[in-house]
Amino acid sequence: LIKQELLQYRPSLHFATKKNWLNDPNGLVYFKGEYHLFFQHNPNDNIWGPMHWGHAVSKDLITWEELEIALYPDENGTIFSGSIVVDWNNTTGFFPDEPGLVAIFTHHQDGSAEIAQKQTQSLAYSKDDGRTWVKYEGNPVLSHATKSDFRDPKVFHHIETGKWIMSLATGQSISFYSSSNLIDWEFESEFGDNCGSHDGVWECPDLFKLKVEDTGEEKWVLIVSIGDNGISTMGSRTQYFVGTFNGSVFTPEHEDIRWLDHGRDNYAGVSFSDIPEEDGRRIYLGWMSNWRYANVVPTDGWRNQMTIPRELYLRNIEGSYKVIQYPVEELTSYFEISEAIKDCEVNPSNSKKFEVNERYVDLFLDINNEADRFGVALNHTSTHITTIEYDAINQVILLKRRNSGNVEFSEMFSTDQELEMSERNHIQLRVIIEKYSIEIFINDGTYAITSLVYPDETCESIILYSQGGRMIVEDGYVAIPAKNVTG
Ligand code: FRU
Repeated sequence: LIKQELLQYRPSLHFATKKNWLNDPNGLVYFKGEYHLFFQHNPNDNIWGPMHWGHAVSKDLITWEELEIALYPDENGTIFSGSIVVDWNNTTGFFPDEPGLVAIFTHHQDGSAEIAQKQTQSLAYSKDDGRTWVKYEGNPVLSHATKSDFRDPKVFHHIETGKWIMSLATGQSISFYSSSNLIDWEFESEFGDNCGSHDGVWECPDLFKLKVEDTGEEKWVLIVSIGDNGISTMGSRTQYFVGTFNGSVFTPEHEDIRWLDHGRDNYAGVSFSDIPEEDGRRIYLGWMSNWRYANVVPTDGWRNQMTIPRELYLRNIEGSYKVIQYPVEELTSYFEISEAIKDCEVNPSNSKKFEVNERYVDLFLDINNEADRFGVALNHTSTHITTIEYDAINQVILLKRRNSGNVEFSEMFSTDQELEMSERNHIQLRVIIEKYSIEIFINDGTYAITSLVYPDETCESIILYSQGGRMIVEDGYVAIPAKNVTG
C-alpha cells in the first residue's frame, strides 16, 4: 500500500513512478493510439538496484497511467536500457497474425574483481499492445567477446537500405549494427574517435533524421549521453552530433562539442519510435536527474522523474545546425492564462510580482532588455527561492538553485547552472515550473536548462526585477492549471 502523503508530493505534469526508483526512459513507442513509456525501474527499493522495465501509457504524452512491470530479470541478467519497434512486416516471424511490438534491450550481469560485467542484447515481444511480454527463446541475440560496456540498443528501420539499424553504446564509442530480422545482427561501423566529449562512458545513443526548421531539409542527428565522471563539473550530460548516415557509417559535419541541455537534470533521453508519418514529429524525453546525486535526492517513497516530452527539430544558426527543443503542444491544454503581460516595464525601483501558488505554472516572457542584469525570482516560500538571472555584462544566463530548498545532499547541486548568451537585448523565456522541477526554454527552444529543485512548497509568486537599466516585457503570460484537466 502506498501511503497517501508520499503520493501527494509526486509531480503531476511529469512522469514519476508511484513507488521506488526510476532512471532512463526505455522503449518509447507509439502504437495504436497510445504512447508507451517504459523505464529503468527498481521496484524493490528507492535506490538503483536490479533493473526491471516499468511501464506507463498515455494518450497525450502528459497524463500517464502506470501499468504492470513489463520485463523482469532472468537467467541472462537484469534488464538495462533499450528500445521498442513495431514489427509491421513480421520480419521476426513473431507476428503471423498482426503487427506487434519488439523490445531490444540489454541483459546485464554484474562482474567480479576478476571478470568484468557482461552485457548482451536480447529481445522480447508483445502481441497485446505491450501489456504482456514473451522473452525470445534464443536470447541473447548479440554479444561481444571483449567489450564489457556494450549496452543500450536503440533500433530503427532504415528506409533506404530496408534494414533495421541498431546504435549501441560500446565504451566511449557508438557501434552500429544492421539486421533484416532483429535476430541476426551484423557489425557495420564504430563512431566516436577524435570527436565529441570523452569525459565519461558513452550511453543511450539515438540516431534519427531530423527536419530543419522552415526548409524541408533533413539531417541525421546522433544523441549520446555521457556518464558521470571525475572530470566534469556537470555530472552526467548529453551531447549530440549532426551529420550524415549512409546505412552503415555516421559522419558528423562539425568538430565542436554540442550539448543538448545546459542544465544538470536531463540525461539518457531518447526519442519515440513509430510516430505516424502524418504527425511527423520527433518527440523526445529525458530522465530528469543526474548520476552525481540521483540516488540521494530528498523524495520519500519514490525517486526521480522524466522531463516533459519535447519536440525536436534543427535550426540553422549562422551556418551551423543546432538541435532545438520545445515542450510538445499537448501541454498547452493543461494550462489557462491567468495574466497576460503586455509592454510591462521593470526597472531598478519597480519590480513586478505575480501571485501564483498553483501546482504548476507556465511562464512566458518576451523581453526587450536595456538592463545590466535582470532576473526572474521563483518564490516557493519566503526563504526557498530559485532565480533565473541574465547578466548582460558577462552575457550569461544563470539558474541559481542554491536557495531553492533542500540542497544539502550534494555539493554540485548548489552550484549555478550557466549558459553563455551573446544576444543581450532580446531574450525570450518560457519556464515550466512544478514542485521539484524547472524547465527553461530560451529563444524559442534554442537553449534548454532543465533543473530539479526541492523546495517545501510549489511556486507561490514570481518576481521580475532589473539592475542597471530597465527591461520591458513586450509580450508574455502567466498560466496556471486549466480547470478542465486533472493531470
Ligand atoms: C544510463 C544507464 C544505461 C544503463 C542504465 C542502467 O543512465 O547507465 O547505460 O543501461 O542506465 O540502469
